Amino acid sequence: MSTPLDLASVASHTMPTTLMDAWKARLERWYAHPGLYRWSLSNPLTRWLTRRRTRQLFDLMAGFVHSQVVLACVRLDVFRTLHQAPATLNDLARRTGLAPAVLQRLLLSAVALGLLEHRSAGRFGLGPLGVPLAQHEGIAQMIEHNHLLYQDMQDPVAFLGNAWAGGMAGYWPYAHAESQAGLPAAAVADKFTRYSELMAASQGFVVQEILSSYFFDDHLCVLDVGAGRGRFVSELAAHAPHLSFKMFDLPPVLALAREGLQAKGLTHRVALHPGSFLDDPLPEGADLITLVRVAHDHPDAVVRQILRKAHAALPVGGVLMLAEPMAQSSNGTGQGSDSADAYFHFYLLAMGAGRLRTPQELQEMMKEAGFTHVELLNNDMPIHARILLGRKSQCLPLVSGKSVN
Ligand SMILES: C[S@@+](CC[C@H](N)C(=O)[O-])C[C@H]1O[C@@H](n2cnc3c(N)ncnc32)[C@H](O)[C@@H]1O
Repeated sequence: MSTPLDLASVASHTMPTTLMDAWKARLERWYAHPGLYRWSLSNPLTRWLTRRRTRQLFDLMAGFVHSQVVLACVRLDVFRTLHQAPATLNDLARRTGLAPAVLQRLLLSAVALGLLEHRSAGRFGLGPLGVPLAQHEGIAQMIEHNHLLYQDMQDPVAFLGNAWAGGMAGYWPYAHAESQAGLPAAAVADKFTRYSELMAASQGFVVQEILSSYFFDDHLCVLDVGAGRGRFVSELAAHAPHLSFKMFDLPPVLALAREGLQAKGLTHRVALHPGSFLDDPLPEGADLITLVRVAHDHPDAVVRQILRKAHAALPVGGVLMLAEPMAQSSNGTGQGSDSADAYFHFYLLAMGAGRLRTPQELQEMMKEAGFTHVELLNNDMPIHARILLGRKSQCLPLVSGKSVN
């Protein structure tokens, strides 16, 4: 990896260091006591805790198998098939071409994971976790896409030494622009098409979080930066018919967006602004700028640059909305830890020089760029995205005749 990566700022706990460290060391010694495991299982007050921790450890060890069970079911189209009607093992064996005794292992594993359920007459049906997989194409596409990441991570220590040698780095052309130089134009165009399709397919849950957490009534024009094929803009256009839009993204991506906007009859409400936020200013004229799943793809210096450009493009009183998955567990206390962080840390490392940031880190960056009244919205499903807002209350001071933006 030639590009140096940014370090996360990890906050320490607030208790005096020596006291907290001494308490943690004591707990650790206690957990390691050879008799504790048996004693805690024999005690009705502690049994549940020991069982839960043992189970958590087992699930950590087995996580790869779980992810491959889901992937196999997606590839064999098990979820959509069973959504149409429950089916027997032999029905499914005929459809998939697998031997019943082998397929049964997969189906029983899927039952154990809550993806499928047993139904009457020896049939299998969808379990509670299988239903969304049958209904949302975006989840199935992400499961297939994650296979690239898991291939890259097959040897996790080698991966940490050279994270950009695999398929995930090759998938994202803008994260490694330098490596695209020798490729045929058609191959690069194909990469833009593939990731833009995946982003459009997987954006639905993020859009729902945004639309249900924020009132757009006070705005007139929205600039979506890193807009992709325009799924967010299209859904917001239907949700708030008074709004007009600008979309900013790399030229090949906006070329793909144009067709979709035409098909939806939105061209009169949406202006396209092809460009790169690395080189170009952002277009002016919008009173709300949205950055959806964009900042985490980029190193800190680029995020600061995008935020400064957003500040410069907004009128006084304008608002920036930054929405993406954010880290839950870097407060140093172990409180509020979220295993989804581990996925995003590794995904973003495999992709390029971006990273998962805490809301606090992003809030600080927004303030540095000049935004005030920076706040974290309280949305229902933070695993899809958390949402930050900041306001431009004033222009930044001029430095030797030029705005610092
Ligand atoms: C992870 S995708 C998110 C797309 C969309 N906002 C969503 O949530 O589905 C990041 C987007 O940023 C765009 N992007 C990356 N680098 C860019 C640059 N230098 N200038 C403009 N857009 C860029 C990509 O083309 C892509 O559409």
